Amino acid sequence: MARIAVDKLDEAEAREELAWLAQTLGQANKAYHTEDAPTLSDAEYDALKHRNSLIEARFPQLKRRDSASDQIGAAVSEGFSKVAHEVRMLSLGNAFDAAEIVEFDTRVKRYLGMEPDTGLSYTAEPKIDGLSLSLRYENGRLVQAATRGDGAVGENVTANARTVADIPETLKDAPRLLEVRGEVYMSHADFAALNARQAEKGQKTFANPRNAAAGSLRQLDAEITQSRPLRFFAYAWGALSEPLGETQMAAIFRLGDLGFQTNPLTRLCDGTAEILEHYARIEAQRATLGYDIDGVVYKVNDLALQARLGFRSTTPRWALAHKFPAELAWTRLDAIDIQVGRTGALSPVARLAPVTVGGVVVSNATLHNEDYIAGKDSTGAPIREGRDIRVGDWVQVYRAGDVIPKIADVDLERRPETSEPYSFPTKCPECGSDAIREEGDAVRRCSGGLICPAQAVEKLKHFVSRAAFDIEGLGAKQVEQFYQDGWVREPADIFELQSRYGTGLQQLKNREGWGEKSAQNLFAAIEERRSIALRRLIFALGLRHVGEQASTLLARHYGSWQAFEAAMRAAADPEDPAYGDLLAIDGVGKVMAQSLVASFAQDRERASIDRLVAYLDVQEAERPRTEGSPVAGKTVVFTGTLERMTRAEAKARAESLGAKVSGSVSAKTDILVAGPGAGSKEKKAAELGIEILNEDDWLTLIGRI
Ligand code: IVH
Repeated sequence: MARIAVDKLDEAEAREELAWLAQTLGQANKAYHTEDAPTLSDAEYDALKHRNSLIEARFPQLKRRDSASDQIGAAVSEGFSKVAHEVRMLSLGNAFDAAEIVEFDTRVKRYLGMEPDTGLSYTAEPKIDGLSLSLRYENGRLVQAATRGDGAVGENVTANARTVADIPETLKDAPRLLEVRGEVYMSHADFAALNARQAEKGQKTFANPRNAAAGSLRQLDAEITQSRPLRFFAYAWGALSEPLGETQMAAIFRLGDLGFQTNPLTRLCDGTAEILEHYARIEAQRATLGYDIDGVVYKVNDLALQARLGFRSTTPRWALAHKFPAELAWTRLDAIDIQVGRTGALSPVARLAPVTVGGVVVSNATLHNEDYIAGKDSTGAPIREGRDIRVGDWVQVYRAGDVIPKIADVDLERRPETSEPYSFPTKCPECGSDAIREEGDAVRRCSGGLICPAQAVEKLKHFVSRAAFDIEGLGAKQVEQFYQDGWVREPADIFELQSRYGTGLQQLKNREGWGEKSAQNLFAAIEERRSIALRRLIFALGLRHVGEQASTLLARHYGSWQAFEAAMRAAADPEDPAYGDLLAIDGVGKVMAQSLVASFAQDRERASIDRLVAYLDVQEAERPRTEGSPVAGKTVVFTGTLERMTRAEAKARAESLGAKVSGSVSAKTDILVAGPGAGSKEKKAAELGIEILNEDDWLTLIGRI
């Protein structure tokens, strides 16, 4: 096709062409990589991509978020097919000091019903700062490699994994099915050499070895991956046809025998004192290891105990990551901005003179809340010995793990003489409503509710975010645009976009950044999301204190939207059993319960939720695997002393078998498990004619004896 020379394009033409290029190249990528059906020849593809970069170089302000030029060396999730993990890939709970390690040990023993002074061994090994990968071997052959993704579904990066020297293609004497899990990483030396090569070629350099490893593994072109020196440490496993050993340590040795690299600093430790000694040893070697680590991971050594301990929603109870202390740097605080979040919270953000902290350039940091700036905690006690933070100050910035940078301290000696204490706004900077601080709350909140554009927009952004509705083509930027134009004011409006503007298509395709195809794609993506998992819907509502983990717990507990909604309404009365039932969910506390109940009791919020749900087909939550479980769907109450397991273990096990565990006996109770010392609950159950079992009967019923 004849094209206007790039230096002759005017801005409107450039914009239009960039939109077309993003779409064409995006589709070509998808066709090539996930559908195995290329729509363009390599030469055509390269030529279009080249033109895209030329136009972007001339009009940098027009560069699109979905531009194909960002797809070089960076993550391109759309290009990979998806893989559902047979066994979920989990993350780890974090701890930062010795006291938390002791608490972990105590918690584990309490759960297992052990005396606090019983000896318990753990493995301790470096926490590699890379990205996790699951390798599936069938009959000793590598058949699939997948990234973690959201834990349930990852990306298929098999072709790329095959290029990594540490990943064996075949295994000798391996179990018929073996999923090996571990970390892909890049050494410091390889990282420096790669960046030097990239710079020489005028290509993108990476901020740190982890980004380089991620960018290299998640390459659409496996040849590029091959040219990048990636390594792999094995430290865990997923699905297995037979156990790898009886202990974590034995399993790690077995992985080593099978031909995997395992970390040479993995040690068996007898109790917390030895764990902490090994932590200190690893920390002392950190700088000379030649690769990045960000902590030490502890795992209960006995695999039978690991199995008993099981998992909370996304983390194992039997493992913990002990993170290294944060990295620090000093810089100047140029300004304090106030951001208004989806729950109305006014959050002060520090704008900093850019500074490198642990390999990453930081120019923003959180200042938490007004008390933090003033130098006190929520009880009024001094922090930083009472030193306040002012614009113009020199401040110490730190990063711990992946979290947002924070400000730890301020240097009074370098404080400009003219500086003044920061005065925190009492009006919302976005809508002018009063910003109110309730007693006992550290946070000042805008009282404008959905009238406040910032709150409404943040709620919408949250609604479309990855762990929520995750609508392709509808990200934070688009939602903001639609909000500003009055097209979308609350979630339900998204589902009316097509009908209201449906001619919409006509209107949308004429807007900046949209073409006919992208508008059609958007409507299709929205349509697709009308069927949504319950946990996603609950999370998407953006209720205060209800995060992703909690949403998963709630979805599992209630199973369906109808049950959840009815319970939230009933629970408005704290005397109603629904409230007790909500509080009895492991992981739901009083604060969260009250926030849930309050949201459902608020007319405006409810109306907005009802309008939304009318458009949806909410999928029932996947309940834990309960096939053949004799207690699936039953409501069970435990009372009295349990002798063979702790209350927490009993509850977790019952739930994993599909039972609902409740704290109080009612007509809905199916089984009461009564240990010695059971009192009023047993009496009530007897009166109601409910089945009463002792602990052994219960264990027999669920097949544990
Ligand atoms: S064990 C079920 N061991 O850390 C537990 N994870 O923050 C599975 N990681 O997603 C993880 N080094 O990517 C484990 N020695 C190690 C690790 C390690 C790094 C990563 C892993 C995990 C993340 C959790």
